[in-house]
Amino acid sequence: MSLRTSLPKIVTDTVPGPKSTELLKVRKDNVTDAVAMLAPVFVDRAEGAMVQDVDGNVFLDFVAGIGVLNIGHSHPEVVEAVKAQCDKYFAPNLNVFNYEQYPRLAEKLNEIIPIEGEKQTILVNTGAEADENAIKLARRYTGRTEIICFAGAFHGRSYMTMAMTSKCHPYKTGFGPLPQGVNRFPFPYCYRCPYGLEKGSCDMHCAKMFEESFFLEYVAPDETAAIILEPVLGEGGFIVPPDEFVQELRRLCDKYGILLIADEIQAGYARTGKMFGCEHWSVRPDIVVSAKSVAGGIPVACVTARKDIMEAVSPGELGGTYSGNALATASALKVLEIMERDDYCAKARHIGDMTMKRFQEMKEKYEIIGDARGVGAMLVLEFVKDRATKEPAKTETKAIINECMQNGLVVLGAGVRDNCIRFLMPLVITDEQVNAGLDILEKAIAKIDAER
Ligand SMILES: Cc1ncc(COP(=O)(O)O)c(C=O)c1O
Repeated sequence: MSLRTSLPKIVTDTVPGPKSTELLKVRKDNVTDAVAMLAPVFVDRAEGAMVQDVDGNVFLDFVAGIGVLNIGHSHPEVVEAVKAQCDKYFAPNLNVFNYEQYPRLAEKLNEIIPIEGEKQTILVNTGAEADENAIKLARRYTGRTEIICFAGAFHGRSYMTMAMTSKCHPYKTGFGPLPQGVNRFPFPYCYRCPYGLEKGSCDMHCAKMFEESFFLEYVAPDETAAIILEPVLGEGGFIVPPDEFVQELRRLCDKYGILLIADEIQAGYARTGKMFGCEHWSVRPDIVVSAKSVAGGIPVACVTARKDIMEAVSPGELGGTYSGNALATASALKVLEIMERDDYCAKARHIGDMTMKRFQEMKEKYEIIGDARGVGAMLVLEFVKDRATKEPAKTETKAIINECMQNGLVVLGAGVRDNCIRFLMPLVITDEQVNAGLDILEKAIAKIDAER
């Protein structure tokens, strides 16, 4: 059986095995612990949803590089496209020589990104860099300074994006002072409503607070350049904002001349069952920032905006040495071709349906599961010590993640309270692999739920 179609199998007595343990010493001595580590193993090869480590253990990957690998590890056609590009040239740098893939990728993104009217795109290298550029564009276009972002948001680790990111530790503590002009509004986290209200009977009280309080007491709307929002809160715990809330954001943006930025870095590229998370909204953003899965693992990030917004900047004001690198753009063009041809959105919906059904069954059985939510194949379980008080089960969540790892399933935490597990399986995963992973997960939950 090829690795691509195999199932998880641990062959060493414990994880990590001996070869990974040796290599971990090299990492420990030479790389700062500030770079987080989830799986304490070293990869030998990876295909589809499967990763084989240097000791021969085979893991099922429900993390996909934190949303980078919707197309799966080492998709053969993407590998071929990148190899073919390697034979020609790597990095002419668009500021120096033109090469076709850059404007072709921009052309493709302008075709598929759900912004109304004429659009243009610039390419950069990381999600944080793309968010930074979106803020530059919004400030220049509006001539205003203030940005509104949300509780629970994650936008990156550069200075501006750190300021817009919500969780203090480990992302912000001790790194200040942070840039000015960042204003935070509560996210509509209905499971833990910031106003103590219930979804369905709340009359969207949170959205009303913009005009009733926030614009009066915290930031003036006529000084606000942009509202930046993740269509599904990623690091913050895969929380889907109600459409009525986003509709209200759009209304406020139109009323006060504010731009609406959708940060699609984790939710984009078929993950939610639509090509972009904001396609679930009944309104459209003005700027879309995307990255991660667009190029199947080779770094490229994209800022797409209305053409009149892009026209507010002049030559040399945006860009960078590696931006829109030839290998990454060749990879991205192939990824997008495959995603459309093979209907990856349908794959995400199928995986999501299968998984959510199992989550609902698990929720009936295990009191530790407080909430199961998400959209498409962007799903999360939130763990609580007590369903009535919703006290976060942080240590238990960590224990479940570790138990999964020991049995060949790699899953990642989420949420500002560290009590969620997010699921981002590669969309090429087989049904058999989904079920095998969920079996491992269920056993881990049952064990930790019984032990507490
Ligand atoms: C929604 C969102 N925005 C921005 C970023 C930052 O991207 P990068 O790590 O490529 O800088 C991330 C990364 O996880 C993200 O999920």
